[in-house]
This record gives sequence, structure tokens and C-alpha cells, in this order.
Amino acid sequence: MTRSQIIALFAAAAFAVGGSVVALTILADTDQVAVAKQGTGVASVGGPFTLTDEDGNRVTEADFIGKPTAMFFGFTFCPEVCPTTLFELTGYIEKLGPDADKLNYVFVSVDWERDGPAELATYISAFDERIRGLSGTEAEIAAVAKAYRVFYRRVPTDDGDYTVDHTASVYLMDSEGQFVGTISYDEDPDNALAKLKRLAEAA
Ligand code: NI
Repeated sequence: MTRSQIIALFAAAAFAVGGSVVALTILADTDQVAVAKQGTGVASVGGPFTLTDEDGNRVTEADFIGKPTAMFFGFTFCPEVCPTTLFELTGYIEKLGPDADKLNYVFVSVDWERDGPAELATYISAFDERIRGLSGTEAEIAAVAKAYRVFYRRVPTDDGDYTVDHTASVYLMDSEGQFVGTISYDEDPDNALAKLKRLAEAA
């Protein structure tokens, strides 16, 4: 039932990446129906970024080179998609055992106004300690979202606040920072774990 509360909208933005076509799933975190953006053609996913980690350190894409990376974009006030994804990721990390240390795990908040290092530090402490939490300024978030082709949009709520619709897929990057695929929000858990295992074994 919980997932039925989510209006899924499936922007099937099909990106032809390195010869393979990848459908990125966008799930709305609220009952708002977001607009699907359709993109086709050759596109690259990933690239340079500068953000701030949960300890306040400035980080760039170079800090994650050397290990493959599982990267997810969301926000700490997210009612369902983010906590579910990070909870599931925590489970996969446990199942990977020693291989888990071969990967980076990164949660990037696209809620630049409310989420800073302190908010992210508190938030990610509920999940596996290997998951890093990154935040940034409005411009920095716009840049990383553009590079990763991440959709995010503020949606006003009845109480005068806002929620954020955002891409729900986990991005998988190889040890050189090249995009290799995604884990979708509704991915079969065995498939998701297999993708992470393959990523770790290729490391
Ligand atoms: Ni979310």
C-alpha cells in the first residue's frame, strides 16, 4: 500500500549511453504528478562536481575515483523513496560482506536550502556508516544534477512548506567515474544485489 501512495511517473528518459539504452525512473515522492521529460539521443551521465560532505569537507568527483560508486539523489525530508532506498542499500551492503568495502556509497541531497552537512550527518547516521552524505549550494546542486541527468523539482505542500520530487534511481559508476547503469526504485532485490556484486568484482 505504501508504494501506491506514490504516483509513479515514469519518465522514461531513455539515454543512449555507451551503446546501451538505460531507462531512468523518476518517482514522485508526493501525490503530485510530475512532468516526465523525455530525452533521447546520445548522452553522457556523470562528470565533474564540487559538493560538501557530512563533515563539512569539500569533495569532488575525483574523491570517488578508484572505486566504483553507487550514487543516489534525494533529500532528508523525503517521506518514502529516500529512506526506503537507503534502508535497502544498507541491506545490500551487509550482504556484500567484505566486497562492500570495494565500493563508494553516496547520497546527494538536492534540497540545497534545507539540507547542509549537519542535517546530512544526522540523517545518514540511521543507515550504513559507509554511505556518505553530500550537499551543496543551489548552483552546485544544479550542476551535479545536470551532469547526472537527475530530475528534481520543488512541490509546495498544503502547510506552506515544500517537498521535492526527484529521480529515484541509484546510479552506478565504475572506478573511473564512468556510468555503467542504474538500480531502479522497484528493482528486484536479487537483481539489485547482483548489480552491486558485479560492480564490486570489476573493481
Ligand atoms: Ni526521496
